Amino acid sequence: MLQTIATVVVVIVTPLLLLIWWKTPSYTADEPAPVPYTIPVLGNALGFTTYHRKFMDESSASRNGQPFSILVAGRKHYVFNNLADIVTIHKTKTLDIKNFIKMIMSNLFGMSEKEAIKFVSIKPVIHELNTKYLLTAKNNVVEASRYFTLLDEVFNVLDKDIKDSATKSVTKDGFVFVVDTQGIASVQAYFGQSLLDLNPKMLTDLTVFAGEGFWPLLSGAPAPGLLFPRPFTARERAVRNIEHWIKMVEKDESLTSPFIAARMNVLKDQGMEETVIARELFSMLFGSNANSIPTAYLALLRFLYSPSLVEDIRQELQDAGYGSLSPAEYVSLFPLGLPLLRSAFWEAIRMGSVSNTIREVLEPTELVSGDRTFKLKKGGIVTCPPCLVHMNPSLHPEPHVFKPRRFLPKELGGDGENHTKTLKPFGGGNSYCPGRVFAEKQVMGFLAEICWRYEITILDKDRFVIPDNADFHYAVKCPRALFELRLRD
Ligand code: HEM
Ligand SMILES: *[C@@H]1O[C@H](CO)[C@@H](O)[C@H](O)[C@H]1NC(C)=O
Repeated sequence: MLQTIATVVVVIVTPLLLLIWWKTPSYTADEPAPVPYTIPVLGNALGFTTYHRKFMDESSASRNGQPFSILVAGRKHYVFNNLADIVTIHKTKTLDIKNFIKMIMSNLFGMSEKEAIKFVSIKPVIHELNTKYLLTAKNNVVEASRYFTLLDEVFNVLDKDIKDSATKSVTKDGFVFVVDTQGIASVQAYFGQSLLDLNPKMLTDLTVFAGEGFWPLLSGAPAPGLLFPRPFTARERAVRNIEHWIKMVEKDESLTSPFIAARMNVLKDQGMEETVIARELFSMLFGSNANSIPTAYLALLRFLYSPSLVEDIRQELQDAGYGSLSPAEYVSLFPLGLPLLRSAFWEAIRMGSVSNTIREVLEPTELVSGDRTFKLKKGGIVTCPPCLVHMNPSLHPEPHVFKPRRFLPKELGGDGENHTKTLKPFGGGNSYCPGRVFAEKQVMGFLAEICWRYEITILDKDRFVIPDNADFHYAVKCPRALFELRLRD
């Protein structure tokens, strides 16, 4: 008996205590003050990953809006919520995202350690490619007009379903509706219908992966296939299909977009195996949809709760000549030609806070914030949650109110706030989201089509909630709205 107890102490308790001791950080007065937690090592991980928005709000309030520190699974995170600090953080060379990208590519997307390191090493080449295809006006227009045309076709099919139905209406789960329209058209525009032909459930796989697998897989737990079979299987099926599809595209580049064709060639030139390229392309499929889909869903819910807004947007579209343009010509209107829709889109982005910017402290770093100088320790993580930045009442009066005209110029009857100056949904610095220009057209284009074509009724108003956070894995789990769609006459 005594021997058993001794063994338990030696084998389990001692290493556990050592782990707790080793992973329990101490803080100096020069670091952002820590927020308390109860479970050792795990720290604030539960709040951080599951009810992010509420957790961030409460933590920030408990520190009077000052930067603070949290512990997430044994790692110290410094949380900054001030716009000026975030700009500084993006410019500071000793705060870097490299190791985090490596972790994402290996844990989340399943590259080996070696492949992930290689991927990070060719980041500058990929950055250049992203800039060329996603951010130069000429190429951005090519992708966007492909997308508008495909979105129109997706909605035409839906219109036919509505017309053919006895009730002249269809009922859809709100989130799935966005996946099946905006998501499908985006995958068709970037990758091609050929990929969906190969795996018609590609977006279901993406949904299971992003919805159920994000934190579990990112955690790097051993044997993810056994522990998290559903998202793991969904990812591996998607990757296998993409690998097969790459071979088809090699024979016929017209099966995909100029952007993805160029991406495949660049990755190949850099010596990447097809199996690895498939994982990289799956990460691109994720990147081009996983933020946009919940962002569009949340925006749509906000719109449906503002009936006069939908009316006004229809009028704006009509005045701009939307009805007389072909879908490929819509690019001439988005975004500048539709200032009300644009303002309402940014307001929805502001309220449905999106992904954090993350940086690792590579070397001890001094960060001047207002009248304080913080000393950040090597190995810490710097986290900038847009949900805090976007709710700052000195930048956005009445931050909890959805004001569709907040970002509309004063001369057009709006509040005249400037979204470029005060919103940070796309990160910044050397990992500034390269999809940001397309994303605006992607989501605005989706919202415009909805307003133009349909009357949507939310059938279960008393049951569903508007998620307070557009992170995919969170929004997908909130009780969904059920939409009834009818054609406008
Ligand atoms: C509402 C939609 C979107 C939001 C909110 C969003 C947000 C973000 C954020 C926060 C980052 C990380 C930035 C950082 O680390 O500082 C990012 C990175 C990225 N995004 Fe987006 N994104 C959206 C749409 C898109 C789209 C449509 C595409 C592609 C067409 C895209 C492609 C990427 C890529 C490739 C990266 C990695 C950049 C790098 O590491 O260099 N995103 N996005
Ligand atoms: C908003 O701010 C950006 C960046 O500072 C600036 O380039 C742009 O002109 C401003 N827009 C308006 C309408 O003032």
